[in-house]
Amino acid sequence: MKLWGGRFTKETDELVHNFNASLSFDSKFYKEDIEGSIAHVTMLSEQEIIKKDEAVLLIKELNQIKAELTEGKLLFDETKEDIHSFVESILIDRTGDTGKKLHTGRSRNDQVALDMKLYTRNELLNVQVLLKDLLELLLKLMKEHLDTYMPGFTHLQKAQPVTLSHHLGAYFEMFKRDYERLRDALERCNYSPLGAGALAGTTYPLDREYTAKLLGFYGATNNSMDSVSDRDYLIESLSAFSIIMMHLSRFCEEIIIWNTNEYQFIELDDAYSTGSSIMPQKKNPDIAELIRGKTGRVYGSLVSLLTTMKGLPLAYNKDMQEDKELTFDAMDTVKGCLKLFTDMLSTTTFCKDKMENSARGGFTNATDAADYLVNHGVPFRDAHGIIGQLVIHCIGKGAALEDLSLEEFKAVSPVFESDIYDVISLKTCVEKRTTKGAPGREAMSDAIRLNEDWLKNL
Ligand code: ARG
Repeated sequence: MKLWGGRFTKETDELVHNFNASLSFDSKFYKEDIEGSIAHVTMLSEQEIIKKDEAVLLIKELNQIKAELTEGKLLFDETKEDIHSFVESILIDRTGDTGKKLHTGRSRNDQVALDMKLYTRNELLNVQVLLKDLLELLLKLMKEHLDTYMPGFTHLQKAQPVTLSHHLGAYFEMFKRDYERLRDALERCNYSPLGAGALAGTTYPLDREYTAKLLGFYGATNNSMDSVSDRDYLIESLSAFSIIMMHLSRFCEEIIIWNTNEYQFIELDDAYSTGSSIMPQKKNPDIAELIRGKTGRVYGSLVSLLTTMKGLPLAYNKDMQEDKELTFDAMDTVKGCLKLFTDMLSTTTFCKDKMENSARGGFTNATDAADYLVNHGVPFRDAHGIIGQLVIHCIGKGAALEDLSLEEFKAVSPVFESDIYDVISLKTCVEKRTTKGAPGREAMSDAIRLNEDWLKNL
């Protein structure tokens, strides 16, 4: 018998039952469902809608059901439609008429809205913990690699020298924003829909602020129709997850490039690489590739839910049941990727010499050479042209700017003196960049200090 079976004259078709049912996936939040019911029962008794001893019995049995489900002593019964019907039917089996009072002043619409919010709130916190682990690792690496010079790229062409600390610092900023985005999502999400009923509240004297407080919310939501049909917090969470995945994917792309035979900037640990079934020499960056690949899957969840929601009239519609599987999948994917990425990065070896040698090539000091001329009174556009000529000259003879003799420098501009060599040295090119946010040791140390304080206050 369905819990809504009263006005029906025959059984639901089996295919319809299977199509309609959600227990196979909403059983994931059985704990949240039971905790929500306990808060509801506590409030019903406080408000004298049910008797105290009834509440005591219901709460005891609800806790018992929760424990049995956790221990695997009680199994989900697939003939039940969803987690709400399942828990209620077990409770009625065990407590009889008292159990039938559980759903007083409640609808599955506010119940499911509550369960999903509780579950999401917890998952947002879990993702924050994983992000914090990654941020701590990045900060540690940033401190270790203040003088690990490497080329900075634009268009994947060598541009100007930076340090590994600075490069990793860019990712620190991205993941820091991600952390704050989750915090914002949590703030907005933290209001309880319980007590909104099917859509229009109830005539029972429910104390919604009380249940909200019991469940750790800031308060109760303002509008009962919005309460049962709001899935913004899921869309915001999926959007924050998508941005995290986008950042991870960009980082993975760089790891894959740095790990190529051509670059050899890094060496991935054997435990985080895989081999080939045919080519014995291979050591592939599969984990980085998989994380990059799974990014599409999380974006898919976001777009899917946005699409599900776009045409829905107020208030609850069954379409909303589709919010679950894809959100759970996105949550599990983001958590798995963050954990593995952090582990992979923490075991990666950075080949400092290779990075530094690479930074020396590709004329990464050409801008500094032009700036030298500017500092000696040459207008920047002329300086740009002069260094351009020198670069052509160097390409012709297969040399770097610093390999040229002073005569060769002077041949294109008499302004050059012997101090040019120091100005265009790799060290000077990096260390003279001291403006806020730049790679020079001084500026980078300031950034590290700021971020260290930020991490401490989390
Ligand atoms: N399984 C449903 C869902 O996930 C629960 C709410 C059912 N409400 C209803 N009016 N049929 O949305």
